[in-house]
Amino acid sequence: MKKALVTGITGQDGVYLAEHLLSQGYDVFGMIRGQNNPRRATVEQAIPQAHIIDGDLLDQGSLIAAISKTQPDEVYNLGAISFVPLSFKQPELTGEVTGLGVTRMLEAIRIVNSKIRFYQASSSEMFGAAKTSPQNEATPFHPRSPYGVAKVYGYYITLNYREAYGIFACNGILFNHESPRRGLDFVTRKISRAAARIKLGLEKKLKLGNLEARRDWGFAGDYVRAMHLMLQQPQPDDYVIGTGESHTVRDFCNAAFRHLGLDWREHVVQDQEFTRPSEVDTLCGDSSKARRILGWEPSVRFPDLVRMMVEADLADLKHEMGPRAASRPSR
Ligand code: NAP
Ligand code: GDD
Repeated sequence: MKKALVTGITGQDGVYLAEHLLSQGYDVFGMIRGQNNPRRATVEQAIPQAHIIDGDLLDQGSLIAAISKTQPDEVYNLGAISFVPLSFKQPELTGEVTGLGVTRMLEAIRIVNSKIRFYQASSSEMFGAAKTSPQNEATPFHPRSPYGVAKVYGYYITLNYREAYGIFACNGILFNHESPRRGLDFVTRKISRAAARIKLGLEKKLKLGNLEARRDWGFAGDYVRAMHLMLQQPQPDDYVIGTGESHTVRDFCNAAFRHLGLDWREHVVQDQEFTRPSEVDTLCGDSSKARRILGWEPSVRFPDLVRMMVEADLADLKHEMGPRAASRPSR
C-alpha cells in the first residue's frame, strides 16, 4: 500500500486530496499544526481513515520527524498562507510559511529519503500581471502580492531540488479552484454564502471589492486528481491546471443570485476595504500540456460550479436554522 503525507489537510484541497488518495488505496497521513487546532475535528469527521500527524512548515525538526515517522512514498505540500489579502498584512510570515516552508519540506525529504516524490502547490497568482493570455508553463511570472512572490520562490526551490538533487519534485500551477468547502473569505464562497443568507432573509447586503477581476474558476475535486497524476509520471515536470475559461466577479454574482431568483444589483455594494494594494486583473489557464500528458480534464463547468456552491450553502444554512428556516419569510 502506498503512503502519502499531505500538508494543509485542514484546507479545502487537503480534504479533497485525502479523499481521492484514499479512494486510490493509499494510506494517508495529514499534517496538522498547533495546539488544539479548531479544524482538526472537521478533518477527523470528514476523513476518519486518514491519520493525523503533528507538524508545522515553520519548524524544520517537525517536518523531519513527520517524514521519518510516516516514511511516505509521496508528499503533497498544500500548506500555506493562501489568502492574498492576509499576505499584504503579514508579508514576512507569508514568506516564511508559503515560501521558506517549501524549502524546509524539501530539506526534510533530502535528509530522510530523497526517493520520496514531492508535489508543490504552485499558483496562477505567480503569473500576476501576465502580458499574454491564456497562461501556460512558458509564461513569465510577474507576481502582484507577497503571496504571489512567496509562491514564485516555492516554485523555483522545487525546480532547484529537482535539478540539484534529482528529487522527483513537481509544480502544479493551479488556477483558482472552488467548492462548497472553500474558505468563507474567498470571493466565490463569500458570494454563494451571502446569496443564500439573503435568500433566507438573514442578510440584505454583500460588500465586495473589485467586481471586474477575472478568474479561471474550476472545481477543487477535479484539481486534486491532477496533483496525484503528476506524481505518477515517469519524469518529474511542471503543469498548468485550469479550465481555459475566465469570468468576472460580477459574472459570479449574477449567476449565484439569479440561481436563487434574486437580482445581485439590489444587494451587492462596493467597499474599498476589499480592494487590494495591487491587483491581478485577469487570469486564464492553458492546460493543454496536462491534457496531453496527464490525460487530465475538468468535469465541472462554471455554471455548474456556481450552482453547486449556492445549493450547498443554502442547504447548510437551512440545516443550521432548523424549523426556523421554513417559517422565515424568504426573498
Ligand atoms: P486553504 O484552504 O487556505 O488551506 C491552507 C492550509 O495551509 C490549511 O490547512 C492551513 O492549516 C495550512 N497551513 C497554514 N499555515 C501553516 C503552517 N505554518 N504549517 C503547516 N500548514 C499550514 O488553501 P487551499 O485552497 O486548500 O489551497 C491549498 C494549497 O494550494 C495552498 O498552498 C494554496 O496556496 C495553493 N493554491 C490554491 C489554489 C486555489 O484556488 N484553492 C490555487 C493555486 C494554489 P490551518 O488549518 O492550521 O490554518
Ligand atoms: N476575497 C475577496 N473578497 N476577493 C474579492 C472581493 C472580496 O470581497 N471582491 C472582489 N474580489 C476579487 C479579488 O480582488 C480578486 O481579484 C478576485 O476577487 C479573487 O479573489 P480570491 O477569491 O480572494 O482569490 P485570489 O484569486 O486572490 O487567490 C486565490 O486563487 C489563487 C490562484 O490564482 C487563492 O486561493 C490563492 O491561494 C490561489 O493561489
